[in-house]
Amino acid sequence: MTHPLLERGFTVTAVDESAEMLERVRGVRTIRSAIEDLDLGERFDAVLLASFLVHTGDIEVRRGLLRTCARHLTDDGCVLIQREGADYHTDLPRERVDPSGFTVRILSSEPVGDGVHAVHAEYEFPDAIWTQTFRARPLTDTQFEEALAEAGLRVDRALTDDGVWVRAVAMT
Ligand SMILES: C[S@@+](CC[C@H](N)C(=O)[O-])C[C@H]1O[C@@H](n2cnc3c(N)ncnc32)[C@H](O)[C@@H]1O
Repeated sequence: MTHPLLERGFTVTAVDESAEMLERVRGVRTIRSAIEDLDLGERFDAVLLASFLVHTGDIEVRRGLLRTCARHLTDDGCVLIQREGADYHTDLPRERVDPSGFTVRILSSEPVGDGVHAVHAEYEFPDAIWTQTFRARPLTDTQFEEALAEAGLRVDRALTDDGVWVRAVAMT
């Protein structure tokens, strides 16, 4: 995500808890940290919370993620959040071909209690297949809005027709 933003002229601070992921990032400031623990003492015009992290199964982690987004915003800044589409846990199995050439398949999503699902994914490359099972907490529109409100944020508008990218701003 960082490099296309850089190519478009944005100044980026890339945050990830994974050193291996940050090693792949070139030309911008990188911060190795859990997002939920981060306080840079700086404010940004835009903060991105991508990769469906807002659907993390752990509600306390989700609160921490959104509070981090909120405390790094300028007064008129915005948070861009990538959330699941409405049918992510029912339109299964489904697949898409990534522009870089591999196929992502979401094979199943099984409830495992407390509103959390175990999602089984497969990534097919020309020379390998990777599988991954991760936990996700589906959020209705109301639950999503309530989660944002806990952090002092509100939905401004959807940025994509499928509602996956949302612009949020500070509550006034
Ligand atoms: C799908 S990858 C996206 C990586 C990269 N941002 C990109 O656009 O290609 C999701 C990343 O989120 C990171 N991540 C997940 N939970 C995190 C957390 N709570 N704090 C910091 N990084 C986290 C993982 O280490 C992983 O690198």
